[in-house]
Amino acid sequence: MTDEKRPALPAEGVPADRVLAELRALRGADRATHGGRLFAYVYDPAVPGLDELTAAAHAASAHVNGLDPTAFPSLLTMENALVGAAARLLGGGPGTAAPEVVGNLTSGGTESLILAVKAARDGNPQITEPRLLVPVSAHAAFAKAAHYLRVALDTVPVSPRTLRPDPADVAAAIRPETVLVACSAPSYAHGVIDPVEQIAALAAERGVRCHVDACFGGWTLPYLRRLGAPVPPFDLSLPGVTSISVDLHKYAYAPKGVSVLLHRDATLRAPQYFAFADWPGYTMINPVIASTRSGGPIAAAYATLRHLGDAGYLSLARQTRQAVAGLAEAVRRVDGLRLLAEPESTVVCFTSTDPTLDLFTLVDELTVRGWHTQPQFRYGDLPASVHLTVTASVAPTVPAFGPDLTAAVAATRAAGPVRLPAELLTLTGTLTPDALTPDLVATLVTGLGFGGPGAGGAVGSAGGVGPGDPDGGDRGAGGAVVPERMAAVNTLLDAAPPALRERLLVEFVSLLQRPTY
Ligand SMILES: Cc1ncc(COP(=O)(O)O)c(C=O)c1O
Repeated sequence: MTDEKRPALPAEGVPADRVLAELRALRGADRATHGGRLFAYVYDPAVPGLDELTAAAHAASAHVNGLDPTAFPSLLTMENALVGAAARLLGGGPGTAAPEVVGNLTSGGTESLILAVKAARDGNPQITEPRLLVPVSAHAAFAKAAHYLRVALDTVPVSPRTLRPDPADVAAAIRPETVLVACSAPSYAHGVIDPVEQIAALAAERGVRCHVDACFGGWTLPYLRRLGAPVPPFDLSLPGVTSISVDLHKYAYAPKGVSVLLHRDATLRAPQYFAFADWPGYTMINPVIASTRSGGPIAAAYATLRHLGDAGYLSLARQTRQAVAGLAEAVRRVDGLRLLAEPESTVVCFTSTDPTLDLFTLVDELTVRGWHTQPQFRYGDLPASVHLTVTASVAPTVPAFGPDLTAAVAATRAAGPVRLPAELLTLTGTLTPDALTPDLVATLVTGLGFGGPGAGGAVGSAGGVGPGDPDGGDRGAGGAVVPERMAAVNTLLDAAPPALRERLLVEFVSLLQRPTY
């Protein structure tokens, strides 16, 4: 990238080939989405030709609007087929325990979860102060749903040993106002499957809906089971499960923008809809949050499933399973690292057992070696950890990971623990989120090595803060420069209580999100 100004709305239009060249140059600053070295954000099956197919499918339907299924029956046909495929995979459909299952496509896991909570809330209009109950390991999108929908959030702890909630704690936490109990299959942070069978039975006993968040790994679990993995029941085969979500843009390997939300029957789904006829325009009937919906992601997901087929997903799950086993073994071989959980799905998550082996420095050292992992901060009894989302594309790179991990560990030990300037530590210890003024944020940003506005950067919103471009590259127009090494930032954030972390990160991200002219 150069610092040449490129307004989005130039006085005169720019020729198509130049525009594309500019886009490619911008993309050059991103982390590589292919190549099997990125362990978060991107789900890559490394299937030759799939990108071309999905790009063509996306383009064919990009301008079609899902707002009105009668005007664009192509989208309705594809949506119903995708919902049917997800239902079949997750224990529903004709001849199963959930023959009446219905569902919709949403834009992603967060939207699916918000709608599951909305359906539960509006399905219980008699409850005036509705509550949602989840394990603390449930995805943050549940907190977002609770926040947006003004539903109170109750949490139960997870055991530091199993990383799962105790069903007895769930039973004790269900209140008369609880409209939904949710759990994960598997959880994002650690990749473990909650005791869904017990939790769903408890919820059913109390007449409360139970949602299974299978957004992350739900598409792989049935395949892993077919390959011999001991996957417990987690889906619509359990009578107490009233809804379940699975993201096609994760392990179904579809391009971004598609998740499936299933309900056991149409009555349970009914309160998910929003309908409005009390205005002079068209009557709005929306099953999901968005009204206008591009057909692009739907068509791309349809093309992905049709092209890969059941056999394709089984083979991709086999590759992923081998990759997970190889990566976990590489971690086990390192003195001072411990798997936080024995892998039971597609996540490898480890922590440090040795104070001289700083996890955040290790993440930086892996980045320098071309491996992008995701730091996770300490939480309650749970130590800080490093998360690896493993996809099929990782399989060929596994042999290279072990030696690089060993080298990164040696470099981390040589560097010693992160030392933060004393005034920063004092600030973190004494600051409350409300006291965080723009001036203080500016001091922290500079103190932590973030540059001023002008060169762009990346802040990982799904966990710890990811390191900047290891080549030290500038990251396009707008925002602030993210330092190459993030250990200091992550150490500071790790030391801060969650409310302060949230506030600091909002301020950091807000600094990045400034218009360019
Ligand atoms: C278990 C789980 N649920 C929900 C979500 C939210 O999905 P999205 O980022 O597509 O909104 C994620 C994302 O990683 C997830 O892992």
